[in-house]
Amino acid sequence: MDAAAAKPAKSATGPTEETVLSVKHYTDRLFSFRLSRPAAFRFRSGEFVMIGLYKDNGKPLLRAYSIASPSWDEELEFYSIKVPDGPLTSRLQKIVPGDKVLLGRKPTGTLVHDALVPGKRLYCFSTGTGFAPFASVVRDPETYEKFDEVIVTHTCREVAELDYSKQIVDETLNHEFLGELAQGKLVHYGSVTREDYPHKGRITELMSSGKLYSDLGVPALNPETDRVMICGSMEMLADTKQLCLDAGFVEGSNATPAQFVIEKAFAG
Ligand code: A2P
Repeated sequence: MDAAAAKPAKSATGPTEETVLSVKHYTDRLFSFRLSRPAAFRFRSGEFVMIGLYKDNGKPLLRAYSIASPSWDEELEFYSIKVPDGPLTSRLQKIVPGDKVLLGRKPTGTLVHDALVPGKRLYCFSTGTGFAPFASVVRDPETYEKFDEVIVTHTCREVAELDYSKQIVDETLNHEFLGELAQGKLVHYGSVTREDYPHKGRITELMSSGKLYSDLGVPALNPETDRVMICGSMEMLADTKQLCLDAGFVEGSNATPAQFVIEKAFAG
């Protein structure tokens, strides 16, 4: 069966079928795409949802994906890795406008404002496709209502892998309505680990050495003023979380908001 040839949704609780509106390939490993958004589909910026395609046997193959678009957007955007033999992404990377993609009905997640107590400065620490939920958060006006400063870090192996996050932050700063809110608050800090780049090294190293803070001209991480969202690989989460704990931060959740929240970056 063609990757695009999805079958009709079978139940009122199962996934809906959405139309691919656009696809943009960034590198041979990364791409983004936009889907139609059902009128009844509600989510909070920063949440994830199941998306996928039908398998040859007619059963849905679904994986968790962070929604990269903000909650006010009429379309849904996703940012994905391409895994050559990945069950879903080996096929998902071939979608073109007009194809159908399955969309789950229950978005959820912890990288949301509701899981953080008020603060002055918001840090969004991401690696790889872990930037996706922050593409949503930085395009949400609520982010600028709640914080005086929003620092989004994105660390990748190669320079070209920073393109998506740079583009999203640039577009936000130049956006007709968001620009006014984000200008003077939103900062993108990109770093690269396996090629030469002005900021080199893992985010954890840049935090531990203090270089991140001196580069940005801000004081070191402080639970009194700062709030943190983290999204990356399991190892990155564990290491970055430890640095937050060491700095005296308390982990939050939807039920018990606190000073930092984490979520695994999803990959197919
Ligand atoms: P490195 O090149 O030193 O492994 P990946 O694609 O493997 O998820 O990695 C994305 C980025 O995250 C890479 O720049 C990688 O650096 C970095 N990274 C990997 N593990 C960690 C970790 N434990 N803490 C912080 N950054 C990490």
